Amino acid sequence: MPGFIPALRLFRSEPHFCGAKGDNVPRQTIFRYHLASSFCRAAARCPRSSGDRSTLQAKIVLLPGDGIGPEVIRQARRVLEAVEANYGHQFEFSEHSIGGIAIDQTGDPLPDATIAACKTSDAILLGAVGGPKWDDPNAKTRPEAGLLKIRKELGLFANLRPIVTFEELLDASPLKREIIEGTDILFFRELTGGLYFGPSGLEELPDGQQRAYSTAVYTTSEVERIVRMAANAALKRRNKLTMVDKANVLEASRLWRRVSARIMKEEFPSIAYDVVLVDSMAMHLLSRPTSFDVVVTSNMFGDILTDEASMLPGSLGMLPSASLGASGPGLYEPIHGSAPDIAGKGVANPLATILAAAMLLRYSLGLEKEAATIEVAVKKVLAAGHRTADLVRRGDEFLGTVAITDHVLQSLV
Ligand code: IPM
Ligand code: MN
Repeated sequence: MPGFIPALRLFRSEPHFCGAKGDNVPRQTIFRYHLASSFCRAAARCPRSSGDRSTLQAKIVLLPGDGIGPEVIRQARRVLEAVEANYGHQFEFSEHSIGGIAIDQTGDPLPDATIAACKTSDAILLGAVGGPKWDDPNAKTRPEAGLLKIRKELGLFANLRPIVTFEELLDASPLKREIIEGTDILFFRELTGGLYFGPSGLEELPDGQQRAYSTAVYTTSEVERIVRMAANAALKRRNKLTMVDKANVLEASRLWRRVSARIMKEEFPSIAYDVVLVDSMAMHLLSRPTSFDVVVTSNMFGDILTDEASMLPGSLGMLPSASLGASGPGLYEPIHGSAPDIAGKGVANPLATILAAAMLLRYSLGLEKEAATIEVAVKKVLAAGHRTADLVRRGDEFLGTVAITDHVLQSLV
């Protein structure tokens, strides 16, 4: 297949690169279908043990960042360390700075040392960046620039955001149970092109006004690779792909529409493919979320739609994401931001970051069983009625960041 991304392989249930064949993978995983990188550098260093199962060495870079980032990363690390001990793996953790804290320390939201560490790692787990301290619109740089730069530096063009409702949390959603029950959408947001990276500028006009512009630019191959990746995921799920654009107005969207239609017709004829305009999608996500399977869209539209979709499961605090390229380490992070209002109070929900750590084990290290074990543990904790502040009604009891993680650790088998 011309231009096919060989580094990515999609599968339903043959997940092991390093893990032993025949392991009992817990069936009740949260994200039922998986995509994994067969380019697994850690797997290359996977020494076969004499027993019936292999252990693995992996370099994991932690980028705590700002706000609640350090708190949730600390808890995800505890979970990864428990997995490491339980399964006999060797994870080498190193922490580096990104975002506002990096600006404070070095003047640069993505210092060279951080880039170098990420490039030689097997996977990266990021907390969050940004906060009011660095919000001055006239500042030389911003924390968010660090995030954008690392995506570009590592070629992470695909941002996977699974939107899955948790049975236990259906009533925490602002939407009615009958609408959201059974929602299972996998978003593929293009991450290194479009409005975020096109030519932009600010100029002074003779009349004293300022004029600013940002441009949405895409090339054929940028659209092809993300559509192919999304379509491959659809093949392993429910065989449906929805492409979202604004082709009635935007030239860049018309390119998306033509390229995507060609790829789907020529390479994925078995997939039910449809296109939806982004304004209409904003509405359909709320009125018929269960009718979507895989959704692929551009950078800006994906940014907005995934925040909207994150309300379907009830809380941003539960949603992980993976950013992947054609090869090299993937970057994993919770979808929520740095939540400066609750930073340092010990009440942040660490579950999205813990679930992001599970995605890291699955996609970058090929450790399906270990990933599923974490996801099942999170489900058990919710089923037992444990909640963080974001998941309860005002006035109800809740657990703090550390306490809910203690329950996750106890539920790991
Ligand atoms: C996200 C965030 C980032 C984005 C910001 C922090 C630059 O909102 O990951 O969705 O817009 O991509
Ligand atoms: Mn966003």
